[in-house]
Amino acid sequence: MGSHRLAFPLLGLAFLSLVLGIWSGLVRVGWPWPSLTPDFWLAHGPLMVSGFVGTLIAVERAVAIGRRWGYAAPALTAAGALVLVAVPLWLGPLLIVLGSAVLAALFGVILRRQPNPSTVAMLLGAATWVVGNLLWLSSYPDLDVDAVVLWWMAFVVLIIAGERLELSRVLRLPRGADVAFLLLADAFVVGAAWAAFDLGAGSVLSGMALLGLSAWLLRFDIARIQIRQKELSRFIAAALLPGYAWLGLGGLFLAVSALAPFPLVYDAMLHAVFLGFVISMIFAHALIIFPAVLGLPLPYRRWFYGHLLLLHAGLALRIVGDVVTSEPLRQWGALLNGVALVWFLVDTGIAVRQGRAEALSTPA
Ligand code: HEM
Repeated sequence: MGSHRLAFPLLGLAFLSLVLGIWSGLVRVGWPWPSLTPDFWLAHGPLMVSGFVGTLIAVERAVAIGRRWGYAAPALTAAGALVLVAVPLWLGPLLIVLGSAVLAALFGVILRRQPNPSTVAMLLGAATWVVGNLLWLSSYPDLDVDAVVLWWMAFVVLIIAGERLELSRVLRLPRGADVAFLLLADAFVVGAAWAAFDLGAGSVLSGMALLGLSAWLLRFDIARIQIRQKELSRFIAAALLPGYAWLGLGGLFLAVSALAPFPLVYDAMLHAVFLGFVISMIFAHALIIFPAVLGLPLPYRRWFYGHLLLLHAGLALRIVGDVVTSEPLRQWGALLNGVALVWFLVDTGIAVRQGRAEALSTPA
């Protein structure tokens, strides 16, 4: 079976995790909707981080590396996330641990082929995912969030930022920029480890590292040039640049979180990073990655700005709700976040259909 055909069902499972993650997140934020299982709300973080984002990253890497064993990574993480919902036993977390270990091995292969700072950052990111998942498995069914969440965050942030570092190399970065990037990445991981012993000090260090990474990306990423271009390039930059600002805000919230400046700082910190940064990156990269992974055209459409703007508007509302401790603002903001994500799936599906129809009607 060709790689594109394997990628199809795996991406489908990643999107299923996303939909279940949105549903459980909205139940968790207080919308009085039915739960699939009594522990459904607890599955939200793993569904989003591992079932959706982790599977997506693993499919992309498995296709890029072209080794059949690589597909075990997304297959295990997608299966683990769904088993977690269906059977609240340690089997789901175990499958996710194994999937993350296969992804780390994939990045090991990539590092051997391309030994450069961006692949070092991405391998570090994959390794932090394994650590976070092992910590989660060891405390399952409880989720010791403080111990685990920074490792999960390190995973997505380092892999995505590492990809941006890779893409920005065409600009000939000034000397020392690579080193500064790696120092910030390392500081985030050291902070995550330190947080196990001293949550306040570890959070300050990791939060400052996120602020530094945000400043680095705003200063050096190629997006600051692409924003002056047109159509697809401009849309990608318009998704990336606010994402970097959200990353900085998330870092600020993380750095001050131990002082508990407002009761809902945890929600604001998590989702400034996971929705503001991570989902913006996915909206931007989807237009390049999906065609490469699926072998299908995904033409740029101006209406993609709809789901992008709604994501930022909903998140801004939610974070204002968190800061002023307003449950209705937080809940409506979260609902808009969910709608933006579903809208993104629908927009992508429509654009792929149109792209295929255009390709068929174009004479060879
Ligand atoms: C519609 C979008 C989303 C909604 C409604 C939502 C809702 C929530 C809520 C209410 C919490 C608990 C926060 C608290 O205890 O103060 C939470 C935690 C969390 N969320 Fe989200 N979220 C969404 C999107 C995401 C995304 C896209 C990710 C990751 C890519 C994510 C990852 C997490 C993680 C890791 C936690 C912590 C795990 C835990 O405490 O169990 N969320 N989310």
